[in-house]
Amino acid sequence: MIIQPSISVKTLSESPNLKSIPSNYVNSAIYPSDSPTSEPHDYSNSIPTVDFSQLISTDLHQRSEAINILNKACQNWGFFMVVNHGIPENLMKGVIDGTQGFFDLKEEEKKEFEGKHVLDPIRCGTSFNISKEKVFFWRDYLKVFVHPHFHSPSKPQGYSDIMWEYCEKSRQVAKGLLDGISEGLGLEECYLEKALDMNSGFQIFIANYYPRCPQPELALGIPPHSDHGLLTLIIQNQVGGLQVQHQGKWVHVNALPNSLLVNTGDHLEIFTNGKIKSNVHRVVVNNTSPRISVAVAHGPSLEAIVSPASPLVQSESNPPAYMPKKYKDYMEMQQSNQLHQKSILEQVK
Ligand code: SIN
Ligand code: FE2
Repeated sequence: MIIQPSISVKTLSESPNLKSIPSNYVNSAIYPSDSPTSEPHDYSNSIPTVDFSQLISTDLHQRSEAINILNKACQNWGFFMVVNHGIPENLMKGVIDGTQGFFDLKEEEKKEFEGKHVLDPIRCGTSFNISKEKVFFWRDYLKVFVHPHFHSPSKPQGYSDIMWEYCEKSRQVAKGLLDGISEGLGLEECYLEKALDMNSGFQIFIANYYPRCPQPELALGIPPHSDHGLLTLIIQNQVGGLQVQHQGKWVHVNALPNSLLVNTGDHLEIFTNGKIKSNVHRVVVNNTSPRISVAVAHGPSLEAIVSPASPLVQSESNPPAYMPKKYKDYMEMQQSNQLHQKSILEQVK
């Protein structure tokens, strides 16, 4: 059975007696090596944890220790959890509840926010890019541009306010992390912020809904990919599914309660001339509980031309390994193609 994904996977998953998935959602045949059948490696207890309160501490010893942990996490994993970040638990819960409310809207109501172009500031849909994909992913999404200009869907009631508050706080945490990364690279604390014009930095709010799936071993929520931008901060509704690549293996992320899950993006890799690599991750699905996640990606200004930072390259021993490219063009290219590993980053090498 082939289903055209004009409907959400949420609606598809709610059809009575759905015992198997339509054939055009079977990813295991197309990407056997990407399929979730390969057992995730049990590194889950060794995922690095950054204590944000130490990173912003006025105690210089504490701060330098936190910078050290952060930079090791970026260089060895491209992924870490952040605790003591100061974002209230009830705000995080409010974001997840509001997101549930959004995906619970009727199909006709969500259609209003469908969006036609990847640069439309509000866009909801299913899979990743159905105009390019032959096999779809078990995921519905809502993508909203929230900085430097704030947008939000008008429904459900209260979602917009909560989104605004969460995105402001998330930007503060991203700023603290980027300052720490800058310093850990031997640059001035504000070097990265200034070089990439972070006051007009692009921030996008991506809400994901992965419904229960009757054959989770055959489907994927999101295929292996890296994110555009610098840092993505993720929260979820207690249901796991995110896996990150580490030393060639998939590692299942068991999130610490109320932690932020953070991955490095392609523009951190470009800016650091490959010293910090962007993290490759994917999402697997399950047949017991729907998963909701909210990923907020923080990038340079859309107008910034991103290339390796000059203090981090040397003409002979460490020449620039990436070509300069406008962030907006990169983002558009990534969103208009199929999502696959680091395929877009390869094009600027
Ligand atoms: C993503 O990679 O954009 C989704 C992450 C997640 O759902 O945890
Ligand atoms: Fe991602």
